[in-house]
Amino acid sequence: MKPSTLMMGHGYDPALSEGSLKAPIFLTSTFAFESAAAGKRHFEGITGLREGGAEGLVYSRFNGPNQEILEDRLAIWDGAEDSLCFSSGMTAICVMMMAYCSAGDVIVHSGPLYAASEGFVAKILAKFGVKYIDFPAGATREQFEDVVAKAKDMATENGGKVAMIYLESPGNPTNALVDIEMVRDVRDAALPADCPIAIDNTFLGPLWQRPLEHGADIVCYSLTKYVGGHSDLVAGSIAGDEKWMKPVRMIRNTMGGIADPNTAWMLLRSLETVELRMQRAGENAAKVCEFLKKHPKVDGLGYLGMIEDDRQQDIYDRHCLGAGSTFSLFLKGGEEECFRFLDALKVAKLAVSLGGTETLASHPASMTHLSVPHARRQQLGISDALVRISIGIEDPEDLIADFDQALDAV
Ligand SMILES: Cc1ncc(COP(=O)(O)O)c(C=O)c1O
Repeated sequence: MKPSTLMMGHGYDPALSEGSLKAPIFLTSTFAFESAAAGKRHFEGITGLREGGAEGLVYSRFNGPNQEILEDRLAIWDGAEDSLCFSSGMTAICVMMMAYCSAGDVIVHSGPLYAASEGFVAKILAKFGVKYIDFPAGATREQFEDVVAKAKDMATENGGKVAMIYLESPGNPTNALVDIEMVRDVRDAALPADCPIAIDNTFLGPLWQRPLEHGADIVCYSLTKYVGGHSDLVAGSIAGDEKWMKPVRMIRNTMGGIADPNTAWMLLRSLETVELRMQRAGENAAKVCEFLKKHPKVDGLGYLGMIEDDRQQDIYDRHCLGAGSTFSLFLKGGEEECFRFLDALKVAKLAVSLGGTETLASHPASMTHLSVPHARRQQLGISDALVRISIGIEDPEDLIADFDQALDAV
């Protein structure tokens, strides 16, 4: 069956919960064992003394019924064996990186990354002796091979290994795509197979890009965005083969960071409509961009449905199933013109984040990316004339009318 069908019932048996059609929210910190021997067996699994991991439910820092149903259903969307849910997208990304990196190791990552992901690598992992080297999202095979060769030299010098290749595609907020298949080919040729390729798929997943089919090993999400989809929760996840999830699960068991039962329940509700919401948002974005493209006050668009670069178009054609609904709008002028536009919006809300039912607009250079040094912002294409827009599921004519009147105010 298709994911949209499975979202209605997969992983849940009403007979185990008094016939309740929907899973109840299990608010409990601990679970009663059937016997002392069963309790011992559980802990042998959790501590790694017995192969096969935990069986059943033990304690709510490790797992819970709502979270387990959610993880089963999240794995379906990405065609993964297993998935782990977290209290935020950043918890998912940070715990995953900690699971794979030791002192002396090197992370190779694409740029730009979401600012907090970049900060975690450059400032926090650095405190534990982990180094990094980055490459531009649109890098060619030759450029990427060169970066991997440098990363191997750095790792040898530091007495460590190249521990992970971490991608974000499309990059935030420029929408530059990474060639995942090329990255996989270079990893296979130049690095051991136990160096995973992880990718943040928040902007296009789970509908419009399926990175595990193109060579990624681990896919990461801020579920706060399209998957949650209503701007009313914060959560994250990773998915992939069980062997990649295992070390991350061990650290989550120790540190915590699992999504709480209420949030997991809300995500189950969101997953029932994720396909409908994303399809509608994608259709709306195509109509809005068609209007914006022709407007005299618009300098350009960073929208995946209107790529102007042949290499980027080739990556899009191989990797993407849709152009998404989050894009960059470049206005003629700079910060002043962008602020006038943003302040005049009536339907679209002025807020950071993306992927919700409502349309949001923000100014990355003065908001989400203010902490990025000016020179690096210019290098990444985050100019003062850039407004980031995430289109929601409103009526498209109302959205176009709103952007039209806001552009009049510029
Ligand atoms: C691409 C991307 N990855 C990760 C995150 C972090 O997610 P969260 O806010 O759920 O921690 C964000 C948040 O904006 C994001 O845009």
